Amino acid sequence: MIENKNYYDTIIFMRNKNIHNLIEKIPKAELHLHIEGSLESDMMFNLAKRNKIQLKFKTIDEIKKAYEFNNLQEFLDIYYEGAGVLITEEDFYDLTLAYLKRAQEQNIVHVEIFFDPQTHTKRAIPFKTVITGIRNGLVDGEKKYKISSKIIMSFLRHLEERDAFETLEEALPFKEWITAVGLDSSEMGHPPSKFKSIFEKSLREGLLTVAHAGEEGPPEYITEALNILKVSRIDHGNASINDEEVLKELIKIKMPLTLCPLSNLKLKVVKDLKDHPAKRMLDSGLLVTINSDDPAYFGGYINENYTALANSLNLIEEDIITLAENSINASFLTAAEKRAYIGRIKAIV
Ligand code: HPA
Ligand code: ZN
Repeated sequence: MIENKNYYDTIIFMRNKNIHNLIEKIPKAELHLHIEGSLESDMMFNLAKRNKIQLKFKTIDEIKKAYEFNNLQEFLDIYYEGAGVLITEEDFYDLTLAYLKRAQEQNIVHVEIFFDPQTHTKRAIPFKTVITGIRNGLVDGEKKYKISSKIIMSFLRHLEERDAFETLEEALPFKEWITAVGLDSSEMGHPPSKFKSIFEKSLREGLLTVAHAGEEGPPEYITEALNILKVSRIDHGNASINDEEVLKELIKIKMPLTLCPLSNLKLKVVKDLKDHPAKRMLDSGLLVTINSDDPAYFGGYINENYTALANSLNLIEEDIITLAENSINASFLTAAEKRAYIGRIKAIV
């Protein structure tokens, strides 16, 4: 009996080791990453010092204690507070390069990052300062770390649509640097339909659209994002698992979802990762991808998200390969670029 147990433990250990090796080495894209959410606490302290800003937290321990969230709003309150240390172009540049360094260590080959301009322009930081820092970070990061990238400008949904119009005006001189617009922040009570006009204008300007929907909100928000905001991807989209019709539609139109398992766990969208819908979604043919959302706040970057999910849902090697391929196919890269990246995945499996 005991010997048997050891035998099965060894098998499970070997299986996990193989899966973890695959997760680490497989080339992948990250499609749901808020650059402000990659602000690690040590960098937060350093920037607070550099910019002479008084933080609410005195020690790293105090920060870590504050990172216990019961819902999205409790997280957002802390996340906006943390972003207050970002002042200069150099700060945004340093933040972006620090993320790309981590990304390279995890074999990320392409990133499509969100930034929240209104979080900064509300504090009188010029739009140009923010986007120039991030853009220069991405350009230098591509040379240094060989990671290609796109920028997604997110509107804060707890603000009014007219605020988003002001932000788009400020963004238009930098349109060449921006691939898509997104929608984030407090979901409940702020449905996608609230932003119908600004998304229409963004589309007319040649920008693609994505939106957070069905993270805490109902499946109807996903339907609104599809039909009214004409999105190319749904960010999160967990609620689709509770609605047969929505699920069917997402599968039919091959709409990608950018799932963020550790975020869902930390924000109590799921009680336990064993309850996460990722595997059921994969098996039903949904085009799901795995991402880190706000890794500095949720306890892990992309590989930790893959690994936690693999452990909780008993993912097999084919699942990991599908998830990595999905991440490339769901990106805003060209068909030729996608083929090249998929080729790199095939070369290692
Ligand atoms: N949801 C909504 N808004 C956000 C998130 C999120 O997970 N992270 C940063 N802004
Ligand atoms: Zn997000």
